[in-house]
Amino acid sequence: MKFPIISDLSQADIYSKVTNYMHEHGFGATLQRIVTCTRDRIIYRESHRDKLRGMQFDNEFGLDTESQIPVEEVDIDGDIVRQKRHYYAPTPISLAKSILEQLDLKMSDYVFIDLGSGKGRVLILAALYPFKQTIGVELDKTLVEIARDNIDRYTSIFSAKIKCKQITVLCENAAEFPIPDEKNLIVYLYNPFNDYVLRPVLANMERRLANGRAVDIIVIYINPEYRDLFDSAASFELVELKDNELVQYAVYRSRRSDRG
Ligand SMILES: C[S@@+](CC[C@H](N)C(=O)[O-])C[C@H]1O[C@@H](n2cnc3c(N)ncnc32)[C@H](O)[C@@H]1O
Repeated sequence: MKFPIISDLSQADIYSKVTNYMHEHGFGATLQRIVTCTRDRIIYRESHRDKLRGMQFDNEFGLDTESQIPVEEVDIDGDIVRQKRHYYAPTPISLAKSILEQLDLKMSDYVFIDLGSGKGRVLILAALYPFKQTIGVELDKTLVEIARDNIDRYTSIFSAKIKCKQITVLCENAAEFPIPDEKNLIVYLYNPFNDYVLRPVLANMERRLANGRAVDIIVIYINPEYRDLFDSAASFELVELKDNELVQYAVYRSRRSDRG
């Protein structure tokens, strides 16, 4: 027997279901089931809320960032990017906002890069902070166009709120994107690609650190499916890990010795 969706039941129904379940499976199993159901319910409610917040954000500002779309393997100039099928899905607004709010550094010294920037939601939210520059790198041409439209619309309506005036979206394969020649970088990854792409991305960053062009690179990796690559990278150290049922992300920072 499975517990039905709790909100569909009256209190008396719940009591009777729990009693029957306890009768059948015992106290321990019932307690465990209640904990699992409650946790699933919280996760379901939170993801539903995130979706509503995203839709509200789009409606309020006339944007298109929430709807998810499949992204096929893309052929760029005859060079097929070997990808698993990845979906465009935006970072939940509350998560992006809370991560940006927590950045305790002089933002005007940092360039913010969203690798796999999709429809540009994170670029818009990042532009509300005084970063030196905000760059999105996205493989899919349609998404790049949507992102540029979103950014144009948002920045023209809310120009007073935009603190980072230089926002660029590039249509490129992140694996080949030359990490900009900047001392301080924040690289944002919303689990955008597999290790086939992530490996050269990491190598590019390590090269920048090794030749002294970059001094401080902070990598914010959400749903860090391939985090073992960073865990084993000599130039980076894990500085924060949030890992619970609701949120998973890891923050890596280039080692202090590399910062001079
Ligand atoms: C999960 S979405 C994240 C979108 C956005 N960063 C956000 O958080 O709202 C991942 C994006 O990465 C893009 N992507 C996948 N592989 C890529 C690659 N090799 N180079 C650049 N973008 C890529 C996909 O097209 C998709 O739009």
